[in-house]
Amino acid sequence: MLTQDELKTMVGQAALQDVSPGELVGVGTGSTVNKFIDALAGMRERIPGAVSSSEASTLRLRAAGIAVFDCNAVERLSVYVDGADEIDPRGYMVKGGGAALTREKIVAALSERFVCIADQSKLVDTLGRFAVPVEVIPMAARHIIRRFRSLGGVATLRQRDGRPLVTDNGQHIIDVAGLHITDPLALESMANQWPGVVTVGVFAHQKAHICLLATTEGVKTLAFNTP
Ligand code: A5P
Repeated sequence: MLTQDELKTMVGQAALQDVSPGELVGVGTGSTVNKFIDALAGMRERIPGAVSSSEASTLRLRAAGIAVFDCNAVERLSVYVDGADEIDPRGYMVKGGGAALTREKIVAALSERFVCIADQSKLVDTLGRFAVPVEVIPMAARHIIRRFRSLGGVATLRQRDGRPLVTDNGQHIIDVAGLHITDPLALESMANQWPGVVTVGVFAHQKAHICLLATTEGVKTLAFNTP
């Protein structure tokens, strides 16, 4: 029986198949992506570098000898590789457990293909078992919490060391538990319009094109219809 860490290593290595030599690669954030970065180090001579979705991934990429390019210096990427907190059978995802959701959505938006890498525990029938992260401007936090509560969610301000967590963008994160997300596109569209919301951690408008799913039987490829 493989451990979750071994599954993450397996799928991180498998994602190299989606990296085109000679091209920049978009790199997400999280423990699964860390395995991908470790594997990518083995082909650093064959790619010009990466566009990163967080300070943490930038540090790891540079430590691996991979150049990191500013997002504004790049017009497009052929591929973006990132993990997920949940993915459903249509390729819709919940992301942001590592608080990097805004930059993840930005780098994903530059990319032609979103390759989600995940272990089998992340595949769900309906999104919402994992509390949905929402990045908010601090002065709007209480208001946004009340709005999610009116939808039946249990919304809390994410803390670190007894204080509200501050993201790479200087904002806060609200985690919304108790949502049963049958229409991810609608929820993402609605919450995106609330003043003070920077990014909703539902990735429906920018869903995955494929998911490499690590299982005890090996890595399975799930392909989704294009959005
Ligand atoms: C980071 O903000 C997230 O979107 C991650 O992609 C997600 O939390 C998955 O992380 P793990 O690979 O660590 O589970």
